[in-house]
Amino acid sequence: MLKMAKKSFNRYTVTSALPYANGPVHIGHLAGVYVPADIYVRYLRSKGKDVAFICGSDEHGVAITLKARKEGITPQQVVDKYHEQIKKSFKDFGISFDIYHRTSSKTHHETAADFFKKLYDDGKFVEQSSKQFFDPIEKQFLADRYIKGTCPTCSFPEAYGDQCENCGSTLSPGELINPKSMLSGAEPTMEETKHWYFPLDQYEEWLKEWILKEHKEWKPNVYGQCKSWIDNGLKPRPMTRDLDWGISVPLKDAKGKVLYVWFDAPIGYISATKDWAKETGKNWEDYWKKEDTRLIHFIGKDNIVFHCIIFPALLQAEGSYILPDNVPANEFLNLESNKISTSRNWAVWLHEYLEEFPDKQDTLRYVLTANAPETKDNDFTWKDFQARNNSELLAIFGNFINRAVVLTHKYFDGLVPSLGELTPEDQSTIDALSAFPEKIGGSLDQFKFREAVNHLMDLARLGNKYLADTEPWKLIKTDPERVRTIMNIAIQISGNLAVLSEPFLPHTAQKLFKTIPVNGVKWEDAGSSDLVNSGAALGEQQYLFERIEDEQIEAQVEKLTDTRAKNMETDSQKVTPIKEEMKFDDFMKMDLRVGEVKAAEKVEKSDKLIKLTVDTGVDTRIIVSGIAKHFSAEEMVGKKVTVLANLAPRKIMGIESQGMLLFAENPDGSLKTVNPDPGAENGATIA
Ligand code: 2FM
Ligand code: ZN
Repeated sequence: MLKMAKKSFNRYTVTSALPYANGPVHIGHLAGVYVPADIYVRYLRSKGKDVAFICGSDEHGVAITLKARKEGITPQQVVDKYHEQIKKSFKDFGISFDIYHRTSSKTHHETAADFFKKLYDDGKFVEQSSKQFFDPIEKQFLADRYIKGTCPTCSFPEAYGDQCENCGSTLSPGELINPKSMLSGAEPTMEETKHWYFPLDQYEEWLKEWILKEHKEWKPNVYGQCKSWIDNGLKPRPMTRDLDWGISVPLKDAKGKVLYVWFDAPIGYISATKDWAKETGKNWEDYWKKEDTRLIHFIGKDNIVFHCIIFPALLQAEGSYILPDNVPANEFLNLESNKISTSRNWAVWLHEYLEEFPDKQDTLRYVLTANAPETKDNDFTWKDFQARNNSELLAIFGNFINRAVVLTHKYFDGLVPSLGELTPEDQSTIDALSAFPEKIGGSLDQFKFREAVNHLMDLARLGNKYLADTEPWKLIKTDPERVRTIMNIAIQISGNLAVLSEPFLPHTAQKLFKTIPVNGVKWEDAGSSDLVNSGAALGEQQYLFERIEDEQIEAQVEKLTDTRAKNMETDSQKVTPIKEEMKFDDFMKMDLRVGEVKAAEKVEKSDKLIKLTVDTGVDTRIIVSGIAKHFSAEEMVGKKVTVLANLAPRKIMGIESQGMLLFAENPDGSLKTVNPDPGAENGATIA
């Protein structure tokens, strides 16, 4: 079989998703995007590669304008505030961007507008008018998020035009019952407006070839999502919006229109590279237009379609850019079994973490890497955080280096002793050591960060085992010559740990470099058992990690418990409002009775429906009910229920349902049966 020659790259452009500047960043951001990107870039730099590591704040779009409304400030004030805060958090955690830019910058406005204009001039857009929601009082078109109404699925009265936050349904504003503009409260009208659409459908064949055939190596979660988008058929997407915040559409007949935020944001990577190149005397085009540059986007799974399908198709349409070679997207990190949520304050905010665990950046980096949501959503728990710190970082990594350094100070005044004759045990340890740079690097090359950090810990385990087996503290009295060799090897392992841990634990590595003179040693030189010269002086011993106590963890868990209680209180206030008044006669039309479930089974091929056999006192009948998310078929059997007995029969998934069961729905969407006090017999009427 003919094997395709592996492309060789001379340069890397590594981007990580531009976070919206509408709030601080949390552990989910770090775990999903920024820690893996930073590890990868630090690894590349250690290998001497030419890298541009690019990020910045995403400062446009409805997310920003909504936040401004909520806080009663301008969108500019919102982005100015959060841009600085986010930038600081990344710096504090050692995320080593070459530039942290912003999409409100002049360079970006020009770059995005020029990009749009070029596509326009080349005839790559399709102009199309359609009816859109409009606020007749504010005289503005309304983004989906600016329309609120009652959810057609769960009747929650505060659902947004794009999503119901109560039941999670994805919506379009047309589906809302009683839609209202959030700007004026008026009922929106439908008005005609023109937009520029990018005909993604025309790129479907090309995308099939480029992703599904040429990028089979992408992570299964990324490849799978791309395949499903493509298989479902791609549609033209509007690249402009009627909004007063963003980059003005650079055309004459486009007053009041801005570029769609997902059009301009990824171009933000290019704008950032331009300003970085200007500052550093590089040529930005080398990083975006040369075939020997490898472009890699680090993102979370909600960004896959934009980075793997839309942005590449835009780049392809423009014609002069390279395409991403890989998009190692992660899944989501949950917090103590619940989805991280900014609006519900269910998060560990980075700035708060550092106040409570000062100088423990690397602990969090380590935990988020060892437990990264690489192939599936994962859970962060404070218990796991404590355990990984205490029994891995402290007990394995810290303990080994501490012993190596302390004993060398004690026996040899801190001067690295020379190697004597090697025993088979020494030799096999040295051989094992030599394999680590390739092992760890091999995992990183495949974006397997969990595996990589496990290999790193294995190196520390190797060191611990070596010391435990050779017991230099016993030999020092009887065979000090032998101890020279042992401590030399232990220091070589420590030096290697310093170099190889730098991408993962950069703050710890900096401390280590002060103790073990291997600063500046590159990845390619690691693995050597001659990394630290004999005779070299070690610096002072320093503790690398501290024990995290139960009380600290309990305080964090308590904080979350408080948040949960507050959320429950708010939820309980979200009671569905009373419906329109009705006539007594209308009520009397309903035949409500006490019934009893005699049998129940799940309806095949449906995840919502249960088929119930109900004794109504008058007859036994079949009722199909959409309750499978709340009850199992088994637990329904034997339950007393309230039956609406005279509802006209309806066919549901081919089964005739004769009547309806009534349930009480809590504000959180959970269902409870409505059953009478004991003594009410089947068939008893309810009125
Ligand atoms: O999902 C988000 O947070 C977006 N702000 C990511 C943008 S990534 C890139 F396109 F800029
Ligand atoms: Zn809903």
